[in-house]
This record gives sequence, C-alpha cells and structure tokens, in this order.
Amino acid sequence: MSRGPLPGFRDFYPEQLAERAYITGVWRDIARRFAFVEYDGPPLETLELYTRKSGEEIVGQLYNFTDKGDREVALRPEMTPTLARMVAAKANALRKPVRWFSIPQLFRYERQQKGRLREHFQLNVDILGEPGVTADAELLAVAIEIMRAYGLGPKDVRARVSDRRLLNALLTSAGVKADQLGPVYAAIDKLGREPLEVTREKWLKATGDEDVAIRLEQTILQKDFGKLRATPEMGADVHTAMEEFGKYLELLDALGVREWVDFDLSIVRGLAYYTGTVFELFDASGEFRAICGGGRYDDLLDAIGGVSMPALGFGMGDVVIGELLRARGLMRRNEIGPDYWIASDSEKLLSKVMQVASRVRAAGKSAEYSLRLQTLSRQMKTASSAGAREVIIVAADEAVAVKNLADGSEKRLTLNELIASL
Ligand code: HAM
Repeated sequence: MSRGPLPGFRDFYPEQLAERAYITGVWRDIARRFAFVEYDGPPLETLELYTRKSGEEIVGQLYNFTDKGDREVALRPEMTPTLARMVAAKANALRKPVRWFSIPQLFRYERQQKGRLREHFQLNVDILGEPGVTADAELLAVAIEIMRAYGLGPKDVRARVSDRRLLNALLTSAGVKADQLGPVYAAIDKLGREPLEVTREKWLKATGDEDVAIRLEQTILQKDFGKLRATPEMGADVHTAMEEFGKYLELLDALGVREWVDFDLSIVRGLAYYTGTVFELFDASGEFRAICGGGRYDDLLDAIGGVSMPALGFGMGDVVIGELLRARGLMRRNEIGPDYWIASDSEKLLSKVMQVASRVRAAGKSAEYSLRLQTLSRQMKTASSAGAREVIIVAADEAVAVKNLADGSEKRLTLNELIASL
C-alpha cells in the first residue's frame, strides 16, 4: 500500500499548511480591503450544473459518480456555477451589486503537469448585478493588488486583457461569419501553446478564405490598442466596443494598476460562459501556467437560475502562485509555534507550570510546556525547535523570567504583571 496521496492530490504537513495559510491569508486580506464578503457552497453538486454551461474541457475533467440515491453528482471543478445558482435563488433579496469572495477546494481530473494538480484551492472574487465597466476595472484591480501584496511588481507579473465583444466585432469586420466564430475562437485559445503555423491552418480551414485569415491574424496579433483603435473604417460595432474598452483602461489607470496591464486579443479563456472583458495573469518570464483568469459572464445566471443579472469574476489558484513565490524567494509561512513556552528548573514546579499555561491560554495566547520532565536547557532547546516566540521560566515564588528567543533579551517581573501585560 502506498504511503502517499493519490496522484495530483497533496498532503499538507504543518509546514505546507503554514504556506497555504499565508497564500490564502493574503487573498482574504485584499478581498476584504476591497469590501468583498466571504461565502461558501457545497463541494458536491449535481452533474447537470456543469454540463449545461461550463464547456467541454472542464466537463471532460469532472470527478462524477452516481450517489446512493441514484443522483448524478460531481465534485466541484469550479465555483462559478455554484455562485450563479446561489445568487439566482435569492436574487431579489440580495443587496446589489453583490461583492462576494470564496476560497473553495476544487477537483479536476487533469493530466498532471507543472502548475496543474487534481485538487487546488482557488480564490473566487465576483461582482453580480453591475453591467458597467467600472466593475470590470474594480475586479482586475483586486487580482493585481494581491500580486503586489506578495511583493511582486509589474515586471514580475502581467495582466493580459481582452474583450469578447470587441473581438467579435473585429472578427466580423474582418469577414469572419457568425458560424465560423466557434472554431476561430478555439484556435485563438491555443495560440502560444501550439506553433503559429498550426493556428494559421485552423483559421484558414474555419474561414475558407485566405484574405479573411490574414486580416484575422493581423488583428489578433496587434498588441497596441491605440494603433488598432486608429484603424479606419471598421464599423459602428467595433467603434462602440473600442470606446468601452478604452474607458476600461482609463479606469485601471485611476485605480493605479494600468502599468501591469497589456492589451492582448489572444486571451479568450477556455470556459464557455464569458461574454465581455476577459483577462489572465501570467508571470512576465512565461515560465509558469496562468496565475489567474476571469471575465464577464452576463448570461450565466439566466442559463442556471432563470434570472437575468450581469456578472463578472475571476479565479486564482494556490498552485501556480506557490510555484512563483518559491521561485522568486517570496514564499512566507504563517507562524506555527506557540506564543509562549512555559519552563521551570524543578520537577516540583510542574503543577505551577501547568497553572501558568492555563492563565496564559485564558488570556488568549497560545502556550505549551514539556509533558515530561526535562532539564531547563533541554526545555529551552525544545521551545526553540517548536518555534515558540518567548519562554516563561517560573520559580517557586511569584517571580518569572521571560526570555525572547529571537533576540535573546530577558525581562523579570511577577506572574500577575505578566498576565496583565498579555
Ligand atoms: P479557470 O481559468 O479554469 O477559471 O481557473 C482559474 C485559475 O485556477 C487558473 O488560472 C489556475 O491558477 C487555477 N487552476 C485551474 N485549474 C487548476 C488545476 N487543475 N490545478 C491547479 N490550479 C488550477 C475558472 O475556474 C473560473 N470559474 C474563474 C471565474 C470565477 N470566472 C468568473 N468567476
């Protein structure tokens, strides 16, 4: 019998859990600074919730089975359908816009590779009930401020942004027919993951017209929004979409994150439900998979809950972020050790040690002591390896010495003074 977990699953020993707690702690902190409120849903849902709208790729990766009540169910591979279901069910009662975040563990039967496991924790930040582009800017700013909080800068991480409405209008203007959009999009999504030659052939096959395929390529590969905007005669739809997108970029500037952002029409996102702005965050060196991805999905609540409500959001996984922080020397751990280690130099004082530990704990601090008799120097070593921040050495009288293990400083006071100072 193997001693390890299933392929693609992780054991979290305390050190690893302390790293995960650091990653998720930053997520919570920044989401709350932007006034998002935390929610959660069930890890098991009906299979149908995902087969309806998520798209082929994710449905092919489902952990699904028939339960003992003959229901077709699946472990959640993403949070968005659950969120759409929950918000649609109480749409009238909720204050709008809904600004919610969640940190679910998700399950996808993926081919194991760098940055991709079969379970991961994913921050989800979503805004529901707001159609305007201010919400799109606010959302992307959350993802970028999280990067900043980890100590990363715009030279380390780039946000690549696009808009499906703009892309649709541009493709139509380039001569792509409505029924050709599907395969054209699928080929765009694979750009960068397969040779350009292969993508070109797919575009040619989809459109059946060499001129259209060339115009299409020139448009998609244009990374300068200003130049694209200056192209004459592209029709009213393109013009409207350009205006909106231009406003989006201006708002990102106002929020202080514009320098992180690149215009990139090749970002279309694999999931089927996106309808407007779409974005992904990548490390600038291109070593890692996407850190985060999201966008606007204005039709999903209608499809899942019969409620018409615009929505947008993103998901950010703990796996790629962890790899990136480790590679850049920026990984931190939340503290594992106790605040205080209680020690004494005499066996007779064990009950006193235990009483002091109780009082420290009652005052809201964590305390540990040796469960078996040890010399004082041994207790100091154990305290240090446990990661305790300070050692309280008790004596037969009321005096205690408090030793700081980080800087070696020591202070002497009475037990009552110590407890009062906690
Ligand atoms: P997604 O692009 O499928 O979007 O996933 C978002 C992020 O989750 C990815 O960029 C990546 O960091 C992480 N991730 C995804 N799959 C794995 C995996 N197998 N192993 C490790 N990390 C992974 C969504 O899931 C959308 N529901 C996000 C969203 C929320 N859109 C709107 N609201």
